[in-house]
Amino acid sequence: RLDVTETFHGITFPGHLHTQDSLQSALRFPFQDTDILIVSYPKSGTTWMQEIVTLICNRGDPHVCQTVPNWTRAPWLEQHYCAMVLEKYPLNPRVITTHLPQHLLEPALQGSKAKVIYVSRNPKDVVVSYYHFCKMAKFFPDPGSFQDFLNQFLDGRSYYGSWFDHVKGWTRQTETMSNLLHITYEEMSLKISAFLQRPLVEEELNSCLKHSSFSSMKNNTMVNCTLISPEIMDHSKGCFMRKGELGNWKSLFTDEQNQHFESVFSSRMQDCSLKFVWD
Ligand code: PPS
Repeated sequence: RLDVTETFHGITFPGHLHTQDSLQSALRFPFQDTDILIVSYPKSGTTWMQEIVTLICNRGDPHVCQTVPNWTRAPWLEQHYCAMVLEKYPLNPRVITTHLPQHLLEPALQGSKAKVIYVSRNPKDVVVSYYHFCKMAKFFPDPGSFQDFLNQFLDGRSYYGSWFDHVKGWTRQTETMSNLLHITYEEMSLKISAFLQRPLVEEELNSCLKHSSFSSMKNNTMVNCTLISPEIMDHSKGCFMRKGELGNWKSLFTDEQNQHFESVFSSRMQDCSLKFVWD
């Protein structure tokens, strides 16, 4: 079975990609000062950021993006193949991705000069994107009805833990760590090239924009998940590059679900100043 669950520090993870050993090693990961770490809760714009960072590091040249799958050029720290990938395909700089919450990574990042980019997205679009993804990814349990999935999300029982704790933990880290950029899916733009201290000339910048657009990425087999075998992902149930829209949550939320969401959101986020664009 692919949908085995690995529980670590009270958080569930897809067992197909995570082991106790791989999760434990992530917590002790020796970051290098030149590393770029992309952090996000699932479905928040991770793949988009991986593409933008790769393009910027290659001065707009799309060759790497179009020939190396994202899990090789920006591997997930907590997944079991990460150490092997970093050893086998040395990158300069190393671009590493993680969905881990801040409290688990804090010790490994302590004193590190690695550049961290935290990507968040309005949680209504996150939960809708997550729901569609779980229907196709066989390494996630069947999501059931959207209502059940939404309740699970609001209660913090989804894989990778609570969205609220994730966003609040990394927002706190933003306040104390100077080499951390917090950017939302909604405002994602070329703020990133300045942060990485890799200014680009106009032509390079235009190439980054072109190759990180939703339509280019939808057709890029290195990121659109079509390389993943049908035993692992049921491509008849949808596609990874699904809509890429702001406010797509409206296609699934009922008025009642929206009201319930708003009340959980305002109570859980009262101690967090983060503002989102919802549509
Ligand atoms: S994952 O599985 O956690 O790595 O997923 P993640 O990459 O974080 O999120 C997938 C959603 O991001 C959308 N996406 C984009 N939107 C706009 N522009 C670009 N270039 C882009 N690339 C990916 C993707 O379509 C998923 O969102 P939904 O709402 O499902 O379309």
